[in-house]
Amino acid sequence: MTIRHLRVTGVRNLAPVTLDPSPRINLLYGYNGSGKTSFLEAIHFLALARSLRSTRIQPMISHDQEQALVFARIETPTGGELNLGVSRNRHAEVQIRINGDSIRSMAELARHLPVQLINPESFRLLEGSPKIRRQFLDWGVFHVEQAFLHAWQRLQNSLKQRNSLLRHAIIDANSLQAWDHEFCSASELVDQLRQDYIRRLKPVFTDTLSQLIQLPDLTLSYYRGWDREKSLQEILDSSRQRDRTLGHTQAGPQRADLRLRIGSQNALDVLSRGQQKLVVCALKIAQGHLLAQAMQQRCIYLVDDLTAELDPVHRKALCRLLEQLQCQVFITGTEQAGLNFDWHQETPVSMFHVEHGHIQESGVTA
Ligand SMILES: Nc1ncnc2c1ncn2[C@@H]1O[C@H](COP(=O)(O)OP(=O)(O)O)[C@@H](O)[C@H]1O
Ligand SMILES: [Mg+2]
Repeated sequence: MTIRHLRVTGVRNLAPVTLDPSPRINLLYGYNGSGKTSFLEAIHFLALARSLRSTRIQPMISHDQEQALVFARIETPTGGELNLGVSRNRHAEVQIRINGDSIRSMAELARHLPVQLINPESFRLLEGSPKIRRQFLDWGVFHVEQAFLHAWQRLQNSLKQRNSLLRHAIIDANSLQAWDHEFCSASELVDQLRQDYIRRLKPVFTDTLSQLIQLPDLTLSYYRGWDREKSLQEILDSSRQRDRTLGHTQAGPQRADLRLRIGSQNALDVLSRGQQKLVVCALKIAQGHLLAQAMQQRCIYLVDDLTAELDPVHRKALCRLLEQLQCQVFITGTEQAGLNFDWHQETPVSMFHVEHGHIQESGVTA
């Protein structure tokens, strides 16, 4: 997917802006507070109808506007065109239009425009809670496996029903048995799809990582959320009393995690902060490669504050990888010079200057 034309109004400090980004590399520079992250946030909003910095939409809407509205003309992988408009007002009401038709499903929107974020927040992938790693994993599975969304929804629903039953003073055994059955069946499916995905991701990740940093002993593995030797039903049977005491289901895909190790040690305990960032970049770029391989679909990369996050050598290595991916990339930095990596002469590169919420295209200087 490539954004060919973009119109943003009502997002943070950005003045209404219309621009035609490069189908490949877009560089935005400007001082702190100029509006660079806000611009990336506008693209993120177009893809997911949510803010990038807050769970609430209110802070994202410009102080003097009633709604945030982002419209884009998008080129599809088959060369088709898609007109996408997303808006949200101060009451958080969402409007999503695809080629003029209103759609209600956020999942449908997300499928159209896969976006990968590389920003200070995403560097928490390794150190953050398992939930962040599950979200990373499920992003990948969702985009390469059509069946995943339905299985995942079944899982969430059965888990909710089961947890609610567990909290009743007297449990209706038949209902619990029925929900256990549904929960196990959805769990097997979600687990299978996640396993398949990780199996495909691993070699791509190893290859990508080796182009960023030499960490040959680093391994990525997947924990499914329950004992590998036992069926989930067995575990539910044996832990029912404890589940009741706690009021929720302990084992299952809702506990899945990704593990990164160096030898027998947790990678987090061994790697420097900078090395962790590179591992995260490799994971995110590997997902983009896999998406391109599996679906002929290209995601859009939003890379915020590149110059502040990586040293010049690794910045260059990351830019090289992003360039090789052949997808559309938006990279921000405070200095124009810091973004002037020696891009291949055939790669279309556009440079934009961001100043007090205004975005102007400016020439690329070598
Ligand atoms: N809802 C809003 N309306 C108007 N301005 C806002 C809003 N939210 C944040 N801002 C301002 O937008 C400016 C741009 O922020 P940001 O995009 O993070 O800058 P940069 O990434 O270039 O450092 C900041 O000065 C901030 O105070
Ligand atoms: Mg910023």
